[in-house]
Amino acid sequence: MLRIGMLTSGGDCQALNAAMRGVVKTVLNNSKEPVEIYGFEDGYKGLIYGKFRLLTGKDFAGILTTGGTMLGTSRCPFKTIREPDENGLDKVEAMKQNYHKLQLDCLVMLGGNGSTKTANLLSEEGLNVITLPKTIDNDLWGTDMTFGFQSAVDIATTAIDQIHTTANSHGRVFIVEIMGHKVGWLPLNAGMAGGADIILLPEIPYDLKKVIEAIEERDKRGSRFTIIAVAEGAISKEDAKLSKKEYKKKLETSKYPSVSYELAAQIQKKTGREVRVTVPGHVQRGGSPCPYDRVFASRLGAEAGVMILKKKYGFMVGYKNREMVQVPLKEVAGKLKTVDPKADIIKEAKLLGIHFGD
Ligand code: F6P
Repeated sequence: MLRIGMLTSGGDCQALNAAMRGVVKTVLNNSKEPVEIYGFEDGYKGLIYGKFRLLTGKDFAGILTTGGTMLGTSRCPFKTIREPDENGLDKVEAMKQNYHKLQLDCLVMLGGNGSTKTANLLSEEGLNVITLPKTIDNDLWGTDMTFGFQSAVDIATTAIDQIHTTANSHGRVFIVEIMGHKVGWLPLNAGMAGGADIILLPEIPYDLKKVIEAIEERDKRGSRFTIIAVAEGAISKEDAKLSKKEYKKKLETSKYPSVSYELAAQIQKKTGREVRVTVPGHVQRGGSPCPYDRVFASRLGAEAGVMILKKKYGFMVGYKNREMVQVPLKEVAGKLKTVDPKADIIKEAKLLGIHFGD
């Protein structure tokens, strides 16, 4: 008997179901021994508290196109994973016990950065773990692409597309806030695809003066509107000088719900222009995966399925230079894949006239 545990962890994204379906189909179609699939509910919590469902192939039928995760998910921060829960339960020990009680051969974890750190910890603790890279942020180290990202780019791009006509009608400056607290892959790609005039990323601190100059330059050239794609984690040059603690305090005490609203107020004050903020928010993580993500997540799932059959554990399945790769979990854990301000895509965007506020 081959017993597989599976869970989805952290913020959801599109194609989680497609990826799980890929794993299960591959294993069921190719295993020489009977297979049992244990789906843990709501992320690592399910593994900690023994909340699971025994699933069959039928449970994975018809889910290629569905958004969200059939198992549910939750955030279970890595930084507190070693701390006992409110009842004194050792979470890591509990996960190990449940894994062994069910006599699992392996655990498949679909998750982002923090979740992969926990997966690595479990691997170091002796569990057989394989992970798949999910996140709309595309910030996992060791893979060029994560599933969920392209679907989110599509949605965020549509949001920017839709803003063009109303921005033009009213002759307004529009800020579209795109998800991405620490990294800017999503705002960068959606901003370029949606024809944003200015893109502000966490990796390139902006100078308010330069942003205003760029808007005024557009005015001079007769453009009626300006669209600014702002990452949730965009930061001004001034704020970037603050310590982490000081910046956290600034955000906590700010009268603005996010950096976009602060920026909007500053632009309005300095230019006298009407400024509006649009926040697509979790819409970016919702709904059906785009065709690219359906294919990509299915491929990752198939690769993970083969690894299970070969009993090859301790890796994240990734995609590098157009090839599927197996990256040791210890290499992935704790590293972020950020946008390099000197990357070709930034240079090219600048050649197109896109301003980054630097
Ligand atoms: O990690 C994915 C992500 O959507 C980020 O882009 C975003 O900053 C964050 O999650 C939002 O988290 P939550 O769903 O917990 O509000």
